[in-house]
Formats: sequence, C-alpha cells, structure tokens
Amino acid sequence: MQRIVVLNPKGGSGKTTIAVNLASHFALRGERPVLMDYDVQGSSSHWVQKRHETQAHVHLISVFERGALATRTFELRFPEGTGRVIIDTPAAVEAQAMPELTRTADKILVPVLPSDFDIYACTRLVQNLLLVAKVKRRDNRLGIIANRVRRNTLSYQALMRFLGTLGIPIVATLRDSQYYVRAATLGLGLEEIKPYDFDEDLAQWQSLFDWLDVPSTHSASASGASASSASASSASASSASASSAPASSAPASSAPAARRA
Ligand SMILES: Nc1ncnc2c1ncn2[C@@H]1O[C@H](COP(=O)(O)OP(=O)(O)OP(=O)(O)O)[C@@H](O)[C@H]1O
Ligand SMILES: [Mg+2]
Repeated sequence: MQRIVVLNPKGGSGKTTIAVNLASHFALRGERPVLMDYDVQGSSSHWVQKRHETQAHVHLISVFERGALATRTFELRFPEGTGRVIIDTPAAVEAQAMPELTRTADKILVPVLPSDFDIYACTRLVQNLLLVAKVKRRDNRLGIIANRVRRNTLSYQALMRFLGTLGIPIVATLRDSQYYVRAATLGLGLEEIKPYDFDEDLAQWQSLFDWLDVPSTHSASASGASASSASASSASASSASASSAPASSAPASSAPAARRA
C-alpha cells in the first residue's frame, strides 16, 4: 500500500484537483484507492459523493468529520486490498503539523502555481518540509507539480527557474485547462471525461505516475512513526483547525537555508 500526501498550505494550488485525479486514475486501474479528506471544506468528499455507483470505486474517509480519537483506527477501516491511499490536506497547514502529516507518507506531492505569491509561499513550504518535517531529498519521496501552467508565459518561465533552484524533482507539469474544472463538477477525473486532446494531459500525468511507481527509500518506522496511523490523529486535528488559521508559522526564514538542507 502506498500513501501519497498532497500538501501545500497555499490555498488553491491544486491539491484537491490532483488528489481526485489520482484517485480516479487508480480506481480505473483497480488499485482500490482510498481518498482521505483532511480538509473541513470537504472538497474531495464532495467529489466522491458525486460519483455514480457505476463509476470506478473510490473509498472515502472524511477525516475532518471524525474526532481525533477516531482517526487512530483509520488503517483498520481501509478496505481489504487497498493499493493507494491519497491524502488531500487543507490550506494553511501549520509547520508544526507537517511532521505528522508526512511521517508515514511514501510520496509527498507539492503542487505550485506559476505566480509570484505562490513561488514565495513555496519557498517557505520547502524549508518547513526539509527542516521541520525532516523530509530528506535523497529519499525520493518529495516531488513538485507545476500546476496550471501556460507555456510561453513569463510566469511559467519564472516558476520553472525557481523550481530548478530547489533541488527537488518536478514530477509533473499540468496545463491550465477548464477540463479539470468540468470533470470535478461531475465527480470525475480527466481520464474519465477524456477531452478530445487528452493525449496531451496523459503525457503530463504519465511522468507523475512513473515517479510514483519508483519506491522511496523513506522508512516510516525509522522516523519514529508507529505501525498504526495513530500519528495522523494529531496532524488531522491540527491541520483541520489550521484550515481557518493564518498561514504557516514557519520557523525557517530564508530560501538559501532550504537549498542547503
Ligand atoms: N490544472 C488546472 N487547470 C485549471 N484549473 C485548475 C487546475 N488545477 C486546479 N484548478 C482549479 O483551481 C481551483 C483550485 O484548485 P483546488 O481546489 O484543487 O486547489 P486546493 O489546493 O485544493 O485548494 P484549497 O487550498 O482551497 O483546498 C479549482 O477551481 C480547480 O478546479
Ligand atoms: Mg482542496
């Protein structure tokens, strides 16, 4: 079973869009995905609830609806044969919640938009992931997704220049497309509505799927996580409450520090 956490405290960066499209993709392949929604906004949950029963099944766990204690038994509620667990996190997750949210993650996906504000926020996020959550670059579990890109724009070029300085792989570059919005409205992934020019999107997603298939060298037990998902309980409580809180209280403050870590 692989756990994939989609994380970026910056609101609207595409966490839910990526989480639901991954869920759709794995469901279509019979990999029995579980989609865990940590966000009180409940967007992922809403998406699952829109799906028709004839569509490939995505098992939903709405973490925000349950008490912190209940989250201790999450793993017991994963259906048998669960292949992938995709965790959609809220905006404004605080730095202190990041160790808990990432400790048992096999892969951590960070979507970033091509805008100066998002680039600035990403600098801080990467610092927190490296320095607070102690995610190691060499573990091959942290990947960045450039989202909503329009090639041939200055903002796209600025984003790619910035991402190139981080020393973290850019595992996908997703175009800005209204098809994502349309698919989400129907409780579907892009792969399920298959736009006429879907081949372009498929090529963009394929690099992400390929990267996900390369195991990370991270060992959750070595980093102090218990075998159960008890650690998720405090993260969920913390991140759920953080969803209405101001932006991260990151201790780190400079981009060069992140690049050195
Ligand atoms: N590649 C894309 N092309 C076009 N629209 C997109 C794309 N990715 C995301 N969007 C749209 O951008 C908006 C924000 O995306 P989304 O809800 O996935 O972000 P989020 O990070 O989950 O937001 P929040 O922090 O509020 O949870 C949505 O309307 C979504 O449909
Ligand atoms: Mg969201």
